[in-house]
Amino acid sequence: MTKRRGGLLHGDWSGTWPVAETGAGVYLYDRDGRQFLDAVGGAHVVTIGHGVSEIANAMAEQARKLAYASSRTWVNEPQLELAELIRSRTPPGLVWVYFTSSGSEAAEMAMQLARQYHLERNEPERHRIIGRWHSYHGGTLGAVGMGGHAVHRSRLEPYLPRARHVASPQCAHCPFDLNHPSCEIKCATDLVDAIEHAGHETVAAFIAEPIGGTTSGALEPPTGYYESIRSICDEYGILFIADEVVTGFGRTGRDFAIQHWNAIPDLILCSKGLASGYAPLGAVVVHERVADTIRDGTGSVSLRMTYSGHPVSCAAGLAVQRHIADLHLVDRCASMGDYLKERLTEMGKASAFVSEVRGRGLLLAVELAAEPDRGVAFPRIERAQERVVAEAFRRGMLLMGGSGTASSPDGDHILISPPFILTEAEGDLLVELLQQSIAAALVEGH
Ligand SMILES: Cc1ncc(COP(=O)(O)O)c(C=O)c1O
Repeated sequence: MTKRRGGLLHGDWSGTWPVAETGAGVYLYDRDGRQFLDAVGGAHVVTIGHGVSEIANAMAEQARKLAYASSRTWVNEPQLELAELIRSRTPPGLVWVYFTSSGSEAAEMAMQLARQYHLERNEPERHRIIGRWHSYHGGTLGAVGMGGHAVHRSRLEPYLPRARHVASPQCAHCPFDLNHPSCEIKCATDLVDAIEHAGHETVAAFIAEPIGGTTSGALEPPTGYYESIRSICDEYGILFIADEVVTGFGRTGRDFAIQHWNAIPDLILCSKGLASGYAPLGAVVVHERVADTIRDGTGSVSLRMTYSGHPVSCAAGLAVQRHIADLHLVDRCASMGDYLKERLTEMGKASAFVSEVRGRGLLLAVELAAEPDRGVAFPRIERAQERVVAEAFRRGMLLMGGSGTASSPDGDHILISPPFILTEAEGDLLVELLQQSIAAALVEGH
């Protein structure tokens, strides 16, 4: 007889998952008291640091007062206040906020709002969403469909709509084998070809992460890219959705990453930094021209989610954002980001396996290569980034890695996205541990 076994359905079945017990500042501790430097803020989530009591107090107070009231009937105070706060920080015109409980839900909601917008405008054939290869917008089916993550797409391929994706804008690994600026930003004008190929009257929206997250590793497009994307979207009547789930609320040194360029999206998705991990919370922020079309049309958003505007989550988000404003943590993120990038660049020059350090604010990535001078990547099968992440864990530091580039499934990068409160001394320790981890993991395995 087969013995029945049960337990937690989580990650892989190795049974070796560490149990996180407490968090304080930039550190997490397991139940044996072992300390880990959280160099990726969980998963680019934690901005204000772990264990800030005033957030816990705000959540407890809200839970005692009102823990839940259905979003079908009610709004609540923290939800209204947080919506006001968000609209005061988003680019001009982005004033309507719909709360979700995660980034994937925000992506699903944005997809449905884009569809509803075109239906209200009496353009029912517009349904396709064009995304970019080497991107990620979440784990639900709609989000995977818009995303260009090869592994998730191949696993779920039978469920996904036929792909409409454009190249990822990465000059160092240009998928068109061109050089900037003589390329005339082919990665942006590629969108025109994709729209024409799909049938321009069928395209509803284009979605992109203004600066990439884990999948592409803090990838930034060339100058002029987003301005060009904005004008192509305008020309074809297509909505531009900026996925700021990772970058929103300060991580790149500005409130939103798209503010580094002169392009205003029609919808912004945000989540991770909004409540800094103190509660599950996400949002779609909608431009007034899109919201007004829906308001003046059917007058209501078709989809309602049970936990939209959850009072305790919104209280957490509000307390986190007030804390960020009081301590000027977005400015701190920008200056610490400059410091850390400089230190990582020095470390990279001295390393035999670092080909590039990129990113803005505290969303940085270190690209690994087998032979950086000759541009030779580690083959995927060598799992270089996984080895560095595992080695760093053994040395007491939490990292995340990603693989592939705009032109190949080979290639590896390590993400560095610590909480904004990181000090220079903690930054120095981070760089030292990373340098040791790269050397130990890659020399041995190479
Ligand atoms: C850019 C981006 N969009 C969306 C998501 C999905 O967010 P969640 O995991 O909260 O559903 C993620 C998650 O990592 C992300 O990085």
